[in-house]
Amino acid sequence: MPDDNTPQQQGALRRFLALPTDSVPKTIFIAVAVCLVASMVVSAAAVALRPLQEVNALKDKQINILQVAGIYDPNEDVVTAFQAFEPHVLELATGTFTDEFDASIFDDRAAADNPETSVALDHDPAGIGRQSRYVTVYLLRDDAGALDKVILPLHGYGLWSTLYGFIALEANGNDIYGLQFYDHGETPGLGAEVDNPRWKALWSGKQLADADGNLQISVSKTPPAAGAHHHVDALAGATLTTVGVHNLVNFWMGEAGYGPFLENLKAGNV
Ligand SMILES: Cc1cc2nc3c(=O)[nH]c(=O)nc-3n(C[C@H](O)[C@H](O)[C@H](O)COP(=O)(O)O)c2cc1C
Repeated sequence: MPDDNTPQQQGALRRFLALPTDSVPKTIFIAVAVCLVASMVVSAAAVALRPLQEVNALKDKQINILQVAGIYDPNEDVVTAFQAFEPHVLELATGTFTDEFDASIFDDRAAADNPETSVALDHDPAGIGRQSRYVTVYLLRDDAGALDKVILPLHGYGLWSTLYGFIALEANGNDIYGLQFYDHGETPGLGAEVDNPRWKALWSGKQLADADGNLQISVSKTPPAAGAHHHVDALAGATLTTVGVHNLVNFWMGEAGYGPFLENLKAGNV
């Protein structure tokens, strides 16, 4: 193969190679070369591992849904166990299911960012900016085919981050079976105590609304006038995350969230 380098270039290369190993130009060259190779390796690894990360994120979400519904068994295959659920895309405004989207692949977060499937919120207590008009919900039926639980996604701002989670309700649409978050950036030991099993257990058996249908659920330091069965104790030392959780739960369980769907549930229309 012909050597395309000019005599000047060959001379410069020879002079560079002849420099002592600890000379400044060689040190800089090696440092830049190491950085380039390392960044290429990291970029290639990030691209190659992305599909695996997506699979793991989906698996983690499915585990959370199984956990909040109280049917997670670490010894059972997650994909198999998840088949117990009946996913549906819910149109929030009507509280009814739609066939417009495939529930098995519908991306709630992408839908919330898409102007065609979401609305910008004027009244935004959950601090989410835009709300998808459609969300994926999961029904769990008993062996006889009767509705046992509904699992509803919810999210909202805490102190540092948006918390993403699920609430599990009994078939009456009012009794809470459980609540847990699967993604947030609150401080470990403070706001991240939302993940503490003892705190999560406080949600079980609480009721969203009173006998008149008024939403009463409260996450606060003291119980609301409506009574302890509507109250979940605040997180110690994390009042701001607590307020965030209170606001997001009330937003999603209210008229702008699952209100119409809960009415349909209570009427036995689901
Ligand atoms: C580094 C740091 C991290 C904090 N993280 C949180 C948090 O994740 N959630 C929260 O509500 N408060 C957090 N706080 C505390 C808040 O600033 C505030 O003091 C607290 O919410 C008040 O709660 P209390 O009234 O229960 O004491 C953090 C404070 C510091 C200094």
